[in-house]
Amino acid sequence: MIGTPPSFIPSLLHLTLPSSSTTITMLSVVFQPNSQPRRWKSSAVFRGYISHRGRNIDESKESASPRDTEGHGTHTSTTAAGSSVHNASLFEYASGEARGMASKARIAAYKICWSSGCYDSDILAAMDQAIYDGVHVISLSVGATGHAPQYDHDSIAIGAFSASQHGIVVSCSAGNSGPDPYTAVNIAPWILTVGASTIDREFPADVVLGNGGVFSGVSLYSGDPLVDIKLPLVYAGDVGNRYCYMGSISPSKVQGKIVVCDRGGNARVEKGAAVKLAGGLGMILANTADSGEELIADSHLLPATEVGEIAADKIREYVKLSQYPTATINFRGTIIGTSPSAPKVAAFSSRGPNYLTPEILKPDVIAPGVNILAGWTGFVGPTDLEIDPRRVEFNIISGTSMSCPHVSGIVALLRKAYPDWSPAAIKSALVTTAHNLDNSGKNIKDLASSEESTPFIHGAGHVDPNSALNPGLVYDMDTSDYIAFLCAIGYDSKRIAVFVREPPSSDICSGKEGSPGNLNYPSFSVVFQSNSDVVTYRRTVKNVGNSLDAVYEVEVNAPANVDIKVSPSRLVFNAENKTVSYDITFSSVSSGWSSINSATFGSIEWSNGIHRVRSPIAVKWRQGSSRESI
Ligand SMILES: *[C@@H]1O[C@H](CO)[C@@H](O)[C@H](O)[C@H]1NC(C)=O
Ligand SMILES: *[C@@H]1O[C@H](CO)[C@@H](O)[C@H](O)[C@H]1NC(C)=O
Repeated sequence: MIGTPPSFIPSLLHLTLPSSSTTITMLSVVFQPNSQPRRWKSSAVFRGYISHRGRNIDESKESASPRDTEGHGTHTSTTAAGSSVHNASLFEYASGEARGMASKARIAAYKICWSSGCYDSDILAAMDQAIYDGVHVISLSVGATGHAPQYDHDSIAIGAFSASQHGIVVSCSAGNSGPDPYTAVNIAPWILTVGASTIDREFPADVVLGNGGVFSGVSLYSGDPLVDIKLPLVYAGDVGNRYCYMGSISPSKVQGKIVVCDRGGNARVEKGAAVKLAGGLGMILANTADSGEELIADSHLLPATEVGEIAADKIREYVKLSQYPTATINFRGTIIGTSPSAPKVAAFSSRGPNYLTPEILKPDVIAPGVNILAGWTGFVGPTDLEIDPRRVEFNIISGTSMSCPHVSGIVALLRKAYPDWSPAAIKSALVTTAHNLDNSGKNIKDLASSEESTPFIHGAGHVDPNSALNPGLVYDMDTSDYIAFLCAIGYDSKRIAVFVREPPSSDICSGKEGSPGNLNYPSFSVVFQSNSDVVTYRRTVKNVGNSLDAVYEVEVNAPANVDIKVSPSRLVFNAENKTVSYDITFSSVSSGWSSINSATFGSIEWSNGIHRVRSPIAVKWRQGSSRESI
């Protein structure tokens, strides 16, 4: 067992899709490139579930085995390491060759989630088993609901500490609780935390109003199209319930009509099912301020499309002001290109600042997590709704659950390329080579605000697998660094004992009372206590380039109202000095700082002319003690 295990807590550790009441259960997926998995005892990882629910698993609903009867585990594992498949598609949407990130890696699946949730004891048992089995990467599209629990009360953080001690990279979803700040989970510094962004593929389905107005939306609807006449249009708020809960809309008022349902409240596909059951012929899923312009394509059970907040406001206005409002929906299939530009950060992607330790920037990176095609179970339909009779081999779904396995697969490739790199070195390579520009050459935008995204939202930026293969320098860390970090945030030997296998000595923290920001992390998050505060952090970089002789110079892109000094500003590596340290001093030069603009962002970049080793910088001025006051 891992240290002192926390008492059995049947708390749910699952992510739910945005604006959805359905639980997205999932499997923890672990895979190991090119090594034979050992046999494992399946009973070992079910005990938490069984002790809470009993042995009577309803096998018509879910399998009492590692078999995936929900779809999420198949989707995430095939994203990480699925083999290449020709002509894969969902109802001919997104058709083409599909493959996982590390298509030659092996997958071992450990079932930790059930329809009733994911049990902490099962998570820990699965991670222990995976460590024993000798896996190289653990991909966990699972997270706590609500704010991130304290590290020593977080089964994923505890299991991940042990895994990282064994050289295993643990890659986790940041959560789907955006766009509010402080929502990211799985934020321990030994975890690779992944947010979600869009890709350059869209499934357009336009709303055409009776007055000629055309609004672009997205959909994966695959049945018969709407007849090409304008159908009567109603707003769900006028005929029962704006969110279109099952059974809440009045059949006599929607029969033969298209219904505008607001996003939020229940699952997006359930709204369409509710309209269909009430006799409606189509649905327009209308975004609100919470989802902004974020569009998620769904395989609706009736002709339906989702439109962004701006279009939604205009459509609702049209329904209100028009005597006989009508509309139709034109489904336009799959389009790949640069309009709209990509990547953009999903509104649902959970954000920083780090709720537990604001001195550590989280999430670390973003990766594709919107409208992702990957494998699916044959047990349930693509919507996971009981009333959905369809069965598919592939499905297109969205979430940080989808972005995490992209990164896990890339990690497997890096692990194969550099078998002796530590998990921290691999994370550093991904962080310092991430890119911040979209495919139109502009800074990556946030779909929640349509403004430029920030490191609190996207971390270092979008992962770039090829650049990560050749990062030049890495910021390395090991268990002793993480223990020093725990000491710095005030943990004593008793709390540290939760993470380490050998009971630590009572003076484990003596001499380690530095700042948590001094952890050798590949990014910077600075918290100023006043308008004239000065903070200095030390970092050590290791030359992993082809040549032992290398000279790197720093380029500073200081955040507004911050002065930055880097010393030395030139790092000389040679056969004798493979690692070199530098100090970076941040000085607040703000005066009369307003509470509206309390964070600024920048970066530093070390370059030898070949490699560019970039670390994002986020700076926040502390206002009072409230964490929520960003
Ligand atoms: C590709 O897949 C689609 C949908 O499953 C199918 O209709 C079509 O015949 C397939 N084409 C080829 C060349 O296999
Ligand atoms: C290695 O670094 C040390 C400490 O900075 C320095 O004194 C020494 O000269 C360096 N060695 C070489 C060969 O540059």
